[in-house]
Amino acid sequence: MSETAKITLEGKTYELPITTGSEGEKAIDISKLRAETGCITLDIGYKNTGSTTSKITFLDGEKGILRYRGYPIEQLAEKASFTEVAYLILNGELPNAKQLQEFEGNIRYHSLVHEDMKRFFEFFPSNAHPMGILSAMVSSLSTFYPKSQTPNRPSKDVERTIYRLIAKMPTLAAISYKYTLGHPTMYPNNKLGYVENFLHMMFGLPTEEYVADPVTVDALNKLLILHADHEQNCSASTVRMVGSSQANLYSAISAGIAALWGPLHGGANQQVIEMLETIRNDGGDIQKWVNKAKDKDDPFRLFGFGHRVYKNFDPRAQIIKKSSDQILKRLGVNDPVLDIARHLEEVALKDEYFIERKLYPNVDFYSGIIYRAIGIPTRMFTVMFAMGRLPGWIAQWKEMVEDKEPISRPRQIYTGANQRNYVPMSDRG
Ligand code: ACO
Repeated sequence: MSETAKITLEGKTYELPITTGSEGEKAIDISKLRAETGCITLDIGYKNTGSTTSKITFLDGEKGILRYRGYPIEQLAEKASFTEVAYLILNGELPNAKQLQEFEGNIRYHSLVHEDMKRFFEFFPSNAHPMGILSAMVSSLSTFYPKSQTPNRPSKDVERTIYRLIAKMPTLAAISYKYTLGHPTMYPNNKLGYVENFLHMMFGLPTEEYVADPVTVDALNKLLILHADHEQNCSASTVRMVGSSQANLYSAISAGIAALWGPLHGGANQQVIEMLETIRNDGGDIQKWVNKAKDKDDPFRLFGFGHRVYKNFDPRAQIIKKSSDQILKRLGVNDPVLDIARHLEEVALKDEYFIERKLYPNVDFYSGIIYRAIGIPTRMFTVMFAMGRLPGWIAQWKEMVEDKEPISRPRQIYTGANQRNYVPMSDRG
C-alpha cells in the first residue's frame, strides 16, 4: 500500500499522496487539497514548497551534497570542461567526443551578434550596470529572431535558440564591458574554446594578439561549472515561471538574469568584494562588522554568508576556497582582501549567532576573489555568474516545457479591506 499523509480539518480526515524522489526525499502532494478541503497551503518565500519534480540537479543542504545529473560537483569541477557540463545539464548524459565536438561547433557557429545590436550599446549611460545591459540585450535577441516567439516550435528551432543563447551571452557580456571602457569591441574568434574566446573578447585589443593564461582559463572554467545549475533557486524558478506562460526563451532568460542580479542572490558576489574592501578601508576591525551583521537594528548583513538550502556548508564554497589559494599563488597575486575574507570567516564561524542560525560562507564568498585575480571588474561578477548559470536556466526551462507543466500561478490569503463602497472625492475630508 502506498504511503499517505493524513490531515484533519474541522473533524474530517483527508489522505494526501506522498511523492518520493530518487534520493528518497519526500513531498506531500497537496495539488488536490483545495478542491477537497477548501484550504490552500501558505508558505511565504516558498521555504518548504516543491514547485516541481526535476531530474537535473540533486542537492542535500544538510549534507552539503550537489550533483548535476547524478555526477558530484567535486568531480565535474576537477575534471570536466564547462561546455561538457553544459551538454550534460541540458541533455542528461555526458557527451562522447563526437557529441561534444558537434555541440561546441554549434555554439561557435552562433557566436556573433547582429551588427544592429551593437548600436543599442551606444545609448546606455557609460556607467550602466552590466547586468541591466545583459538582461535588456538578451530580451532584445527575441526581436531579432521573431520565430522564437511562437510557442510549441519544432525541436530543431528550439535547439537553435539554445545554441544562440549559449553562444551570444559571452559576446554580449564582453561588449558591455568594452563599452564601459570606451574600447573597440572584439569579434569572437571561433578558433578558440568557449572560455578562451570570452577572455579574448574581454581583454583582447585589435592592436595586439591576446593569449589567455592557462591558469586563468582553468580558474574560469571551474567557476562556470560550479555555477551551472542549482535546482529551484530564485532565478531558475523565475525562468520556469516566465516560461510557463509560453513567453519565449530569450525573455524567460532575461527575467532570470534580472532575478539573479539581486544582492540576496547572485548579486551577492559583487557585494562581498565591496564589503571586504569597506572593512579593509575602515581599518579591518572584523569584530565590529560581525557585530553590525548581528544587530537587528542595523540593515547590514554579511554578504556571502547564509543560504536558503545549505545548512551545514556550501560544497561550491569549499571548492572555491581551496582553489582560490592555488589560483592566486599560480597567478602570483597577493590580494589583501583574501586575508580579510579568511579572518571574517574564522570569526563568524565561531560566533554563536552564526552557529545557531547555521550561517556558512556560500558560493559567492570566495568567487569574487578569483574573478578579481583574473582581472574581471567587480561590476561584472554577477554577469560571470549569469554566464555560468545559463545552461541550468535553459535546462530548467526545457524540462518544464517537455513535462508540459501548466502555467505557474500561486494563490494567496487575502488580508486587505473587506468590500466597501466608493467614496466621492468631495466626501473624503
Ligand atoms: N548576515 C547576518 N544575518 C543573517 C545572514 C547574513 N548574511 N543571513 C541570514 N541571517 C540571519 C537572518 O537575519 C535570520 O535571523 P533571525 O532568525 O534572527 O531573524 C536568520 O539568519 C535566517 O535568515 P533568513 O534571511 O530568514 O534566511 P533565508 O533562507 O530567507 O535567506 C539568504 C537566505 C537570502 C541567502 C540570506 O542568508 C542572506 O541574505 N545572505 C546574504 C546574501 C547572500 O550572500 N546571498 C547569496 C546567496 S547564494 C546565491 O544565491 C548564489
